[in-house]
Amino acid sequence: MTKQRIISTNHLSETLSELLHEIEHDRLFILTDEHTAKLCYPLIDKVAGGAHHITIPAGDDNKHINTLCHVWEELSSHSATRHSLLINVGGGMVTDLGGFAAATYKRGIHYINMPTTLLAMVDAAVGGKTGINLHSLKNEIGAFCPADAVVVCAAFLQTLDAANLASGFSEMIKHGLISTEEHWAQLMRFDLSNPNLEELQQLIMESIRTKEHIVEQDPTEQHIRKALNLGHTLGHAYETLLMRRETPCLHGYAVAWGLIGELYLSHIREGFPTDKLRQTLSYIKEVYGTPTFTCQDYDELFELMQHDKKNVANEIRFTLLGNIGDIRINRTASREEIFEMLDFVREG
Ligand code: GLY
Repeated sequence: MTKQRIISTNHLSETLSELLHEIEHDRLFILTDEHTAKLCYPLIDKVAGGAHHITIPAGDDNKHINTLCHVWEELSSHSATRHSLLINVGGGMVTDLGGFAAATYKRGIHYINMPTTLLAMVDAAVGGKTGINLHSLKNEIGAFCPADAVVVCAAFLQTLDAANLASGFSEMIKHGLISTEEHWAQLMRFDLSNPNLEELQQLIMESIRTKEHIVEQDPTEQHIRKALNLGHTLGHAYETLLMRRETPCLHGYAVAWGLIGELYLSHIREGFPTDKLRQTLSYIKEVYGTPTFTCQDYDELFELMQHDKKNVANEIRFTLLGNIGDIRINRTASREEIFEMLDFVREG
């Protein structure tokens, strides 16, 4: 898998204009959802003159085959060829689906990701995973296909509400935990209630470098890429539980509590230091409030973790840490330890 170019910019039009000169193409297509069509497309429409603009409905519920068909049909009916270029402007739903459309249309065309949410900047838009949901199964269909370039511009975040900013930030905390103590400590000092965009842009780039470094070693998640699953075994189970209860939460909120649970498991199984567990817990409590499950939900959370697609031979597999940056993949835990982890998440 080729490496993606990650470009950090405060001058979106100039950067895009240079890229359009560098990446040869015959026709240009821009994919947005109905929100980024209004909020973000105007920032690039002058440079993208002559492009065909495709808009899809927003939200993960629309990340399915019918929306993908619509994108394929738009590409086809507007004469896209193998030498056409697609720019995905949006959050993870747009970059995942648009990336998959680019990966599959005529067996693959060039594409650029322009993530507009923090979650997409530090996670979905980098690393080459593309795909769609199959009914309720998330990202069940997809391909590894990196973008030619990912353009990161924190100015997009001015249009993002505080909850979505916090949602993306938990993936950055994850990257801090799997990288260095210095990066983790910078994140723990960052004031999310009054974010400094310049500092945030630097932290985002560091976060992306962490992800890139791991993806380069293991693009298709055979071993070390599993480090990126830290916090997600419990996080996904909690997210699904809340969806079943029809009280959904943003992905990053579930990941934040997943991180606390899995750091606790790291502590009891791998000796992760108490002070770093406590410091991460206090930051997460302050930003993400309190988790809303009770001990009545433990069996269901356990059952959901058992169905995690990362498991092998029906055993729940966690990514744990011996310390910050000391990654231990494919770790198991007993039912008792998992219930103790859930107690810790609820009671701290
Ligand atoms: N979101 C985790 C990964 O890209 O592997």
